[in-house]
Amino acid sequence: TWTMAGFREMELARIREQVGTGKVICGLSGGVDSSVAAVLIHEAIGDQLTCIFVDHGMLRAGEAEEVIKTFRGRFNIRLVHRDASELFLRELDGVTDPEIKRKTIGRLFVEVFEEEATKLGGAQFLAQGTLYPDVIESVSFTGGPSVTIKSHHNVGGLPERMNMQLVEPLRELFKDEVRDLGRELDIPEAIVGRHPFPGPGLAIRIPGNITQEKLDLLRKVDTVFLEEIRAAGLYDAIWQAFAVLLPVRTVGVMGDGRTYDQACALRAVTSTDGMTADVYPFDMSFLNRVAGRIVNEVRGINRVTYDITSKPPGTIEWE
Ligand code: XMP
Repeated sequence: TWTMAGFREMELARIREQVGTGKVICGLSGGVDSSVAAVLIHEAIGDQLTCIFVDHGMLRAGEAEEVIKTFRGRFNIRLVHRDASELFLRELDGVTDPEIKRKTIGRLFVEVFEEEATKLGGAQFLAQGTLYPDVIESVSFTGGPSVTIKSHHNVGGLPERMNMQLVEPLRELFKDEVRDLGRELDIPEAIVGRHPFPGPGLAIRIPGNITQEKLDLLRKVDTVFLEEIRAAGLYDAIWQAFAVLLPVRTVGVMGDGRTYDQACALRAVTSTDGMTADVYPFDMSFLNRVAGRIVNEVRGINRVTYDITSKPPGTIEWE
């Protein structure tokens, strides 16, 4: 019978067989897939693996620190952390079109990743946390709709350019199976149970021009929203929850005074694969509590809206 413990042993053997004494580089994002792939490969080949964490500065509050702490501290994995936030902000200055934003981030990501990989003296293998649905999706793209809704970013093209072979130990698994494998590998629940997070990060949750100030503001709103979701015990019932900083200022009243500040939107959905999604039906009292906290605690925000669009016709992310 098929068990996750058995799968783990089989994959460990497969990785050792494929890699031999070669060197492997793995891009780490802090997400579930790359984390599980990295820990599994590390168990198979130890220090033949080096992870590269390209920090584009568009992560949630505290996330970069947590990635570093977990992988260096807990798992003793060789990890290069490249803080490239200034570069990303500079190159994104004035970019408002969602597709150009995505492409700019994707291009920079690959450039920085390649730079770091070269500094390491290269490697014969590139590890990726590709899942079964990703394999299917890239196949069905050829026969699927001819319109690109959103360009997803990954390190496509890099293996050929750098003459590397792919190591993809998760390519037969679905998301829930990857989470089970992560638990089997003793990866903390905070990582294993984490909501999906898009490669371009907060950049696609700030319609319009991206600035450091806007990123800081959005992180504060996002933190309050997720704190309340966790406190209410709802985190695991939701596929993804996040805040969007709207490029609109609206009039409000606080105390005896008039405010003229920014509006934000909250989004929370249920889904099994991200292809379709339903709006999470929060109680009104929960939404009231969150809105109250955000307006009171986050200076610069005076209006909170809840996005009630399902996918389709909406997409999960706003850009
Ligand atoms: P959409 O917005 O297309 O998102 O409904 C579907 C799922 O994909 C995530 N997403 C991304 N993930 N790179 C990623 O790795 C990306 O560029 C990207 N864009 C969207 C999104 O968060 C949702 O889970």
